[in-house]
Amino acid sequence: MSDRIHQTTGLRTEVRQDGHLQLSLETSEIERPAPDEIIVEMAAAPLHPADISLLLGPADLSSTVAIGHGVQRTLSATIAPERMAGLATRVGKSLSVGNEGSGVVVEAGQAQKHLVGKNVAVMGGGMLTQYRKVPISDALPLPDGVPVTSGAAVLINPLTALAMLETMRDEGHTALVHTAAASSLGQMLNRICLEDGVGLVNVVRRPEQAQMLRQQGARHVCDSSSPDFVAELSALIAETGATLAFDAVSGGSLASQILAAMERNALASLHGYSRYGSKVRKQIYFYGGMDSRPTELNLWAYGMTWSAGSWLIFDQLPQMAPERSVSLRERISRDMLTTFACDFAGELSLSELLDPENLKRIAARSTGQKYLINPSIGLER
Ligand SMILES: NC(=O)c1ccc[n+]([C@@H]2O[C@H](COP(=O)([O-])OP(=O)(O)OC[C@H]3O[C@@H](n4cnc5c(N)ncnc54)[C@H](OP(=O)(O)O)[C@@H]3O)[C@@H](O)[C@H]2O)c1
Repeated sequence: MSDRIHQTTGLRTEVRQDGHLQLSLETSEIERPAPDEIIVEMAAAPLHPADISLLLGPADLSSTVAIGHGVQRTLSATIAPERMAGLATRVGKSLSVGNEGSGVVVEAGQAQKHLVGKNVAVMGGGMLTQYRKVPISDALPLPDGVPVTSGAAVLINPLTALAMLETMRDEGHTALVHTAAASSLGQMLNRICLEDGVGLVNVVRRPEQAQMLRQQGARHVCDSSSPDFVAELSALIAETGATLAFDAVSGGSLASQILAAMERNALASLHGYSRYGSKVRKQIYFYGGMDSRPTELNLWAYGMTWSAGSWLIFDQLPQMAPERSVSLRERISRDMLTTFACDFAGELSLSELLDPENLKRIAARSTGQKYLINPSIGLER
């Protein structure tokens, strides 16, 4: 076993007591891997909405001040005083960023030596760094012929989209509604549902997003900016029989509109009158926070047989039967360059990420604007 200690420089984000967010690059050492661990030289890591939220918090990016160059660069931005209360548990903690990524294995524990030199996808946080040590359970070797950058985002969104369908089947639903459906994950979910013959109502917020999904074969698409949105949503829920929704928007009244449309559809086949509404179970899971406004629910519009809750892939995976988990990973490996492919707007080094103009572009989290970070370039001192 090599005694080499890897030094790694990675991105850190910290909310300071004085009401500032500080972004910086920090160098640390990685200990030798345990028998079932690998050390990966990171080549690519996507900035997903959850990574962007952790990276930037509620900082006012128009106030960003940059100091220094290369690895000495730091960025500072103000946080409004009223937002600081919600950040109390974060204050003073320097946090690493990046839920997943891909790279080449440069060192491995005794049981994983065969992986040295191979490309792998990895997850587990702190991926915006040159070298990252992970247990083998957090890695997926890339099949031959898959370029390392194509493996950067093959774990979190693909596993999430597949696990949504596991939830659907486990909880007895047969079709589902998905919001912010033009997202990378939404496009992936659409491809999976088409392959599996599952009814999917895609809810988007712009006409061009509806057109894009239809061009990708989506059969049921509605646009919340349409004046006839509620009628269109109701018609698609009736057509598919969807009784489950995964909501990435969460803020505002969209979730309420979905539950009410499901209840109207259920009542349409109810004979007679029930003061408690339909007996059809309607479920909405909030799984993203693209709209930070409070969620508005109208409890009396959905009858008495409905539930709302949160849903997180990191809670779902440990509950999954091991053979299901293996089967989902095998499907991802097989269809990595097709069903589970993700488009990126561009690639940035860590130093380029610490450019206020790049940060503003990334913070928008717009359709088709997901960036890939290469943590191993541009770290000149
Ligand atoms: N809970 C979990 O376990 C889990 C796991 C993975 C992903 N996620 C969530 O899944 C969602 C999609 O992730 P992704 O990586 O696929 O995202 P993405 O490709 O970056 O796309 C983000 C999408 O959100 C839309 N959007 C942004 N602000 C919005 C708003 N205020 N209202 C409605 N739509 C808005 C954008 O549309 P515009 O162009 O119109 O802005 C875009 O289509 C995110 O919320 C992410 O956090 C959750």
